[in-house]
Amino acid sequence: MSALPNYAPACRPMRPEDLDRVCAIERRIYAFPWSQGNFADSLTAGYLCTVMECAGTLVGYGVLTSAAGEAHLLNLSIDAPWQGQGLGRALLMYHIDLARSHDARIVLLEVRPSNAAARALYERAGFERIALRRGYYPAEHGREDALVLVLRL
Ligand SMILES: CC(C)(COP(=O)(O)OP(=O)(O)OC[C@H]1O[C@@H](n2cnc3c(N)ncnc32)[C@H](O)[C@@H]1OP(=O)(O)O)[C@@H](O)C(=O)NCCC(=O)NCCS
Repeated sequence: MSALPNYAPACRPMRPEDLDRVCAIERRIYAFPWSQGNFADSLTAGYLCTVMECAGTLVGYGVLTSAAGEAHLLNLSIDAPWQGQGLGRALLMYHIDLARSHDARIVLLEVRPSNAAARALYERAGFERIALRRGYYPAEHGREDALVLVLRL
C-alpha cells in the first residue's frame, strides 16, 4: 500500500489563479487533457473544484458535481512526480467525503479500461462497474470505451 509522504497534503477550493498550474499538470499527465476553458467553465458553473497542495506546491486536483443525491467525479489528477505516494487515494477520499457532505447517496465516474492505476485505485476504494459507454473517449487510434463505476455511500 502507498504511504503518504512526510509533508501533509492539504485540500482547498480551486481558484481562477490556480488554473495555469492546474493546466500545466493536466497537459503533462493526459494524452487528451481538459482545456483551460473546461476548468474555467467548471468554476463558473459552481462545480466543486479542489486543489491539493504539499508544502505550498500544487500537486493534484479534482472536479466533482453533486445534485439530487448523485455526485459525479469528473476529474481526479495527481502530478506525475507526486504519483505513487498515496496522494491519489487521499484526494479520492477527500472527494468522497465532499460528496457525502452534499448529501450524495452515490458517486459516479468514468474511467478508461486502459487506465490500470486509476481502475485499481477506484476498485480498492469500493467502486463497482455498472455500465460501459462505447467510444466515449478520444484515443490515439479512434475512440476508447469508458467504464462507468459507482460507489454507494
Ligand atoms: C490515478 C491517479 C490519480 C492515482 O494517484 P496516485 O497518487 O498515483 O495513487 P496512490 O499512490 O494514492 O495509489 C493508490 C492506489 O492506486 C493504485 N495505483 C496507483 N498507481 C498504480 C499503478 N502504477 N499501477 C497499478 N495501480 C496503481 C493502487 O491500487 C494504489 O493502492 P496501493 O498502493 O495500496 O496498491 C494518478 O496516477 C493520476 O493522476 N494519473 C493520471 C490521471 C488519471 O488517470 N486520473 C484518473 C482519471 S479517471
